[in-house]
Amino acid sequence: MEVKLFYGSTTGNTEKVAKKIADAMKGKIAEVVDIKKASVDDFDFCDGYILGLSTVDEGLLQEDWRRFWDNMEDIDFDGKPVAIFGLGDQVKYGKWFVSAMGEVYDKVTELGANVVGAWPTDGYTYDDTTAVRDGKFVGLVIDEDNQADKTDARIATWVGQIGSAFS
Ligand SMILES: Cc1cc2nc3c(=O)[nH]c(=O)nc-3n(C[C@H](O)[C@H](O)[C@H](O)COP(=O)(O)O)c2cc1C
Repeated sequence: MEVKLFYGSTTGNTEKVAKKIADAMKGKIAEVVDIKKASVDDFDFCDGYILGLSTVDEGLLQEDWRRFWDNMEDIDFDGKPVAIFGLGDQVKYGKWFVSAMGEVYDKVTELGANVVGAWPTDGYTYDDTTAVRDGKFVGLVIDEDNQADKTDARIATWVGQIGSAFS
């Protein structure tokens, strides 16, 4: 199964987490691609995707993803597993905590993806988010600004959870 990880990162946090996730998936990820440098062709011939992003500017999707956004319609997500991870800051930006994940979830779901890797909201304290569906975050939530000490364990748990969808 060909799985690629695409991420967008403004200050490098999502990039760092992307690399940790790829390492934790032990050879299951064919390529880790910065969405800033990606084209639609990079999404070809994949059987599954992992998408990583941060939320910036009070609830907005990371800017490289925003620039790429119109291309999403041209990617064949139909029937394929997609796992989403998102970075945010629950203390400073708790009104929009990881909200951009919800936008990505809605788009790939509309395009037929089978989103895997829903994540419990326990352990985070925030005011509001648009990234929760049916009581869970739509994917792995990482807060490098306030809970960096929890990142490695969260990745390990999540990778264990999504592993079967990508093998
Ligand atoms: C100007 C600014 C706005 C931000 N807005 C949000 C936000 O609305 N929601 C959120 O959860 N995090 C927000 N953050 C926090 C970032 O998502 C967080 O620092 C993340 O780790 C950045 O990842 P990156 O370096 O991969 O872009 C914001 C950060 C900055 C600097």
